[in-house]
Amino acid sequence: MKKVFVLDFGSQYTQLIARKIRELGVFSEILPFDTSVEHFRKERPGAIILSGGPQSVYEKDSPSITAEIFNLGVPVLGICYGLQIMSLSLGGEVVASTKREYGFAALRVLDRKGILSGIRDGGQVWMSHGDKVSRIPPGFRVTGTTKNCKTAVIESPGNNLYGIQFHPEVIHTRQGKKILANFLFNLAGIEPNWDMESFIDTKTKEIRRQVGDRLIVCGLSGGVDSLVTSLLLHRAVKDNLYCIFVDNGLLRKGEYQRLMETFRKKFDLNVIGVEAEDRFLHRLKKISSPERKRKIIGEEFIHIFEEEAGKIGQIDFLAQGTIYPDVIESNPVKGPSSKIKSHHNVGGLPKDLPFELIEPLKELFKDEVRELAADLGLEKDFISQHPFPGPGLAVRVIGEVTRERLRILREADDILIQEIRKARLYDKLWQAFAVLLPVRSVGVMGDRRTYQRVCVLRLVQSVDGMTADWFPADSRLLSTIANRIVNEVDGINRIVYDITTKPPGTIEWE
Ligand code: XMP
Repeated sequence: MKKVFVLDFGSQYTQLIARKIRELGVFSEILPFDTSVEHFRKERPGAIILSGGPQSVYEKDSPSITAEIFNLGVPVLGICYGLQIMSLSLGGEVVASTKREYGFAALRVLDRKGILSGIRDGGQVWMSHGDKVSRIPPGFRVTGTTKNCKTAVIESPGNNLYGIQFHPEVIHTRQGKKILANFLFNLAGIEPNWDMESFIDTKTKEIRRQVGDRLIVCGLSGGVDSLVTSLLLHRAVKDNLYCIFVDNGLLRKGEYQRLMETFRKKFDLNVIGVEAEDRFLHRLKKISSPERKRKIIGEEFIHIFEEEAGKIGQIDFLAQGTIYPDVIESNPVKGPSSKIKSHHNVGGLPKDLPFELIEPLKELFKDEVRELAADLGLEKDFISQHPFPGPGLAVRVIGEVTRERLRILREADDILIQEIRKARLYDKLWQAFAVLLPVRSVGVMGDRRTYQRVCVLRLVQSVDGMTADWFPADSRLLSTIANRIVNEVDGINRIVYDITTKPPGTIEWE
């Protein structure tokens, strides 16, 4: 299978380039711009794409590239900054500009034989650049222009080198995908043969080869990634996979039982269920600092995991549900595509445990994991579930966590989710949950005064959890939820609605 390497010069669209290539049925991988040429010689990619980047090629410390890359005989496509750095390395000229060209432009197609085959003259493209190529390198021809850019597309078919000033990877470039397809299939001669079925097949064989008849252990969190990891491993090694699922007492209503049943009955996984509520609650006694809570829960999880793994016998491998964005975020490439999320994967295990790591999903994007999940038989409701934090309800019971407070929160949260689902809102939201405050307020129910806790409803929309908007829910829906919680949950007599965006707030309260 031929791979395409996308070299990241820091563009916010780098991941998008990799995604589009995979959508076209070709496996792609993002690498730092300074990956050694030796690596390419060894791996023999089908093509290399140079991404855009936020800097000017003339800026101090701007990322550059060795010209050797263009002599490997591997087809190369430079996009935006990638085009400029390619032009500069091959003897062309780039003019720095203080004015950015940003937005739509119409593409004049001068030649339809190469990368612009089948592309409409005058079609819309998306520009976002400051510098531009003022003199193209020897051996190249201009095949496309726009009003403000005379070198919008350049080609050197003899050397299989191509450059585009606009962004074919973004949706605003109407025929962008076709341009990428022209490059991959017509010019680089790559066969599209990457899809989920072939992924499952290759991965299963690869795991089988690597593991043989040794044992693997995998922690299940209740989320999609760890379950998909386990299902893939199960296909490969059957009962040599042991899964461990810990009830830390901080899960939602009925969650532990429901998940255990799914793991065992539906998927026939070998799961060790550990009911450890008492242990966690004991360690959380009198703790109200959010970070202390997270740390304690993380530590306790690791203790339990080690204890349970120790009981199984000689384990050689530890499987984790790491996915591609996690890999990119923890090995950031210089530039803005490397915005690092504060990673708080409680339940994630330290890498220095005495096992070899297996991370079968580490090349996949989230939506590819979802596709894989569906192919492996997971139901839609499970696949599209909202993110749930590793420390669970402990960060939603504000202040000290007690069994009684967890009971109250679980009931309220369950009602909220029931109503959100009934209103067909669940899939429109990034997260919806209840938070229990350590504050009591006075109320009146029937003829009696009440003095009970305050519950917050948090409904947010987000694309990636990095920023979020509060959801302007319908007042009738809010009213139904509030009435039900106050009437049905003993311990809550007041509901408030959180209208804080992130930033400056965060999604969770702790
Ligand atoms: P915040 O609250 O930082 O959350 O806006 C962003 C996203 O991360 C989730 N989150 C966590 N996930 N362990 C996790 O595994 C944690 O400690 C944790 N804290 C927040 C949160 O639910 C949201 O989706």
